[in-house]
Amino acid sequence: MSAERARITVFDTTLRDGEQSPGCSMNQQEKLRLAHQLDRLGVDVIEAGFPIASDGDFEAVKAIAAVVRRPIIAALARASRPDIERAWEALQGAARPRIHVFLATSDIHLQYKLRISREQCLTLARESITFAKSLCDDVEFSPEDATRTDPDFLCRVLDAVVEAGATTLNIPDTVGYTIPQEYAELITTIRRRVKGIENVVISAHCHNDLGMAAANTLAAVEAGARQVECTINGVGERAGNASLEEIVMAMRVRPDKFAYETGVVGDQIFAASQMLSEITGVPVQPNKAITGRNAFAHEAGIHQDGYLKNPLTYEIMTPQSVGVPDSKLVLGKHSGRHALSIRCEQLGYQFDRRALDDIYRRFVRLADKIKKVEDHHLLELIRDTHKPSGSATPLIEPMVTAKAAVGSVPAHEVSPEPVAEPTKPFPVGPQTNAFGVPVSSDSQHEQTQQEDYLWGV
Ligand code: KIV
Ligand code: ZN
Repeated sequence: MSAERARITVFDTTLRDGEQSPGCSMNQQEKLRLAHQLDRLGVDVIEAGFPIASDGDFEAVKAIAAVVRRPIIAALARASRPDIERAWEALQGAARPRIHVFLATSDIHLQYKLRISREQCLTLARESITFAKSLCDDVEFSPEDATRTDPDFLCRVLDAVVEAGATTLNIPDTVGYTIPQEYAELITTIRRRVKGIENVVISAHCHNDLGMAAANTLAAVEAGARQVECTINGVGERAGNASLEEIVMAMRVRPDKFAYETGVVGDQIFAASQMLSEITGVPVQPNKAITGRNAFAHEAGIHQDGYLKNPLTYEIMTPQSVGVPDSKLVLGKHSGRHALSIRCEQLGYQFDRRALDDIYRRFVRLADKIKKVEDHHLLELIRDTHKPSGSATPLIEPMVTAKAAVGSVPAHEVSPEPVAEPTKPFPVGPQTNAFGVPVSSDSQHEQTQQEDYLWGV
């Protein structure tokens, strides 16, 4: 990484704006699981929720703040005292808390939604930021519908909140209306006119109603924004938010045009995408850039020919760079536990030996029936193997806790069906080695290795 590359803060709002997407609501356990994956992904800020919106949201923010310690945890609040107090209460356990206050500033929102004047808006913005700042050092302000706000008025509001202590100014294109050049000009205007702007971070927050969210975000970065707000798979209100993977990979694939760097761990992108899709049940659009199942598929003969001669003929990034599993690793009835556990990890799951054995037994039975086990079959199988009895809700623990949690699922909850043992080349079991000879517990490790060898895992 070269010294002149500016560092861009990645603010992930999958758990807040993303969750506002139809069909994308998540319970606390699911949010926690995703928050751990966002941590592994290396995002700088996780917007964990909108605590005043519901008790569930409050508890989820609180739970995430308590255990996810590296990234900043942000909580959203309207420009009102009870909202800000509730957000702050939820953030009490956070290592690095941020209060994010928003207030609409466009005339259409002031007139029809809030029914307040511009002067009232200005006062509310100033007072709410002063109050948030009295609680928390890290305060972000968002003038909702900024891109349809009169720029003179917008700059007055931003002047006021910077003076009141805001540390990040987020400029939302709430309705996905702007275009790259116009959005860049707005950022430039703000940088030129707002007093004290050199002491705060400007942030881009774009919606995708015209399919330009990622392009608009990148244009803002070029104009001086240093934080990008985005979601996994681009989920979010209506047509969604700017997609994290598209913004990050545009910077990585075109460093000649975008001299910026982020802390995102590329090979965790696909696992995050799959996990979100599995949790919400909302599939990733097949042609979705970076994370869609066709993003690295080549169907046409000419393309296949070129690709086989040199993948760079038709691929501008490697599947591995974003964590897409190696397609040469086909999972079928001859596959062993090693391949299975690698694919599980690529899909966002890490199991201990016992849990993997459960999955493996079912996997072999399935592979016998359907020949090739695809990722969606495997995800279903994982969900099925670990769902609590009598519940249709998937119960999959976050990766970091999966080892303990999955291992402790009571036997009666694992599977009501009798499970057939896969055929083994030698009689192996917990008390015998691969050759059927009894072993002491000290030699269990050695036995496992022999078993792995014999099973081809
Ligand atoms: O799109 C928007 O305006 C928002 C704000 C709450 C930041 O999501
Ligand atoms: Zn938004």
